[in-house]
Amino acid sequence: MIGNNLFKKAVVVSLVIIFCSIAISPALGISNLLRLEEKSSLVGQEYLLPPPQFIDMSFEKSIMRRMSMRNFTDEPVTDEELSTVLWAAYGLRDDGKLTVAEIDGSHAAVIYVLLEDVYKYNPVNHSLVFYKEGDYRDIVGWQYSAPVQLGLCWNTDIADANFGSAELGAVGQNIYFAANAIGLGTVITAQGDPPAITPVGLPENEHGMGIMPLGHIEFDYNFKYRPMLFSFLPRVTFSDTELTTALEERDEVTSWESDSISRKDLSHLIWASYGYSYYLDKSGSNVVKRHHTVPSAHGYYPFRIYAAARNGVFRFMYGLYNIDLWGLPVVSFLLPVKLGDKRSEIAQATESFASDAPLNIIIVLDIDKTNQWDDLSAESIRWIWYYEAGAAAHNILLQATSRGLNGNILTINDKEAICSLLRLDAENYDPMFVVPVG
Ligand SMILES: Cc1cc2nc3c(=O)[nH]c(=O)nc-3n(C[C@H](O)[C@H](O)[C@H](O)COP(=O)(O)O)c2cc1C
Repeated sequence: MIGNNLFKKAVVVSLVIIFCSIAISPALGISNLLRLEEKSSLVGQEYLLPPPQFIDMSFEKSIMRRMSMRNFTDEPVTDEELSTVLWAAYGLRDDGKLTVAEIDGSHAAVIYVLLEDVYKYNPVNHSLVFYKEGDYRDIVGWQYSAPVQLGLCWNTDIADANFGSAELGAVGQNIYFAANAIGLGTVITAQGDPPAITPVGLPENEHGMGIMPLGHIEFDYNFKYRPMLFSFLPRVTFSDTELTTALEERDEVTSWESDSISRKDLSHLIWASYGYSYYLDKSGSNVVKRHHTVPSAHGYYPFRIYAAARNGVFRFMYGLYNIDLWGLPVVSFLLPVKLGDKRSEIAQATESFASDAPLNIIIVLDIDKTNQWDDLSAESIRWIWYYEAGAAAHNILLQATSRGLNGNILTINDKEAICSLLRLDAENYDPMFVVPVG
């Protein structure tokens, strides 16, 4: 009898322990759970992340809210928040594609997730793979202290520094959008020689490009809706397409049903590539500012964006004349460069199907503008600018999705031909991508 009672008590106590560990474990977070185990035997072990949150913010709103945040509180990032940001960054979709497009026909991005130990993100089963014991967050993320540091790297067997960085530009955009939409903050920080992630010790075929701290923000986002005073382009409007839907449904195509594009679509697509937000940022961390749709190293914003449609080639003047109350740009418009249909010339320098696209957006680096207070113009560090070009191209694809259109990202095999089409000197300009869309 006594033995029977003891057995019952033991069963009850065990059930209570199992219940408590299940109830408490999500709050403890992956890194704390691991303390209970012998870490040296964990290399390669996978920890499934919880399902990502559906982000119902309008895509255009999330792009207008993109800005860099550099001050983070100690509040931990929950497993669900981390899951949401990582899926947006480079997650696997229901159709088997990733949340960013291939660059030059391949995917090369690798994301390290620095918590109390180091993990790698595995998109295939949405898990964190234990990589290395040890807290490297303040070493690798020395610029800004945060509860999570994301190490953006690329596989050197698959891509070179330029195309690897371009894909990471797309990954970085998704991290910015998702983090902001769920109340977190981030900033892309890049360091080339040696990359900031070096102390972690990467495999030989991986190279570090940038670090993105991720955390709860010290200063709340504070945006005021103030579109440009004078825009000669139709106004960008908030669609019903949620951020998660845009990430799920982006699709690359090589043919289009129509040969023309409406001014409203053109306005949205070109704005998404490099335009200024309609929001003024009045958050505590900044002077009043109007952010671009992409980040830029040193805030240089050295790109020119061109639109080539059936009627000609135009340069996107995304913000002129700092004459408003805050000294911010107030005018945007398209400046004609060449009249007539030039899309077949673009096709000859890229892919034949570009000539059928209603619109080709061309992303061109103005090399002189990369040498302002610090010289970032060298060919050897051109990857810095490929990151920004990749971010701009990715924005166009997501904006196309939001408007029921499709595009592609084309590398350029004859840069001189593109420069000559745009009346640019090939010594001083570097065309990086063409994005056919319609
Ligand atoms: C490739 C790249 C590297 C960057 N490196 C750093 C960096 O090392 N530290 C930093 O604080 N910001 C860095 N930034 C962020 C820019 O400073 C920021 O995007 C720019 O000032 C515009 O501000 P916004 O992103 O808030 O609109 C980088 C941006 C890019 C695209």
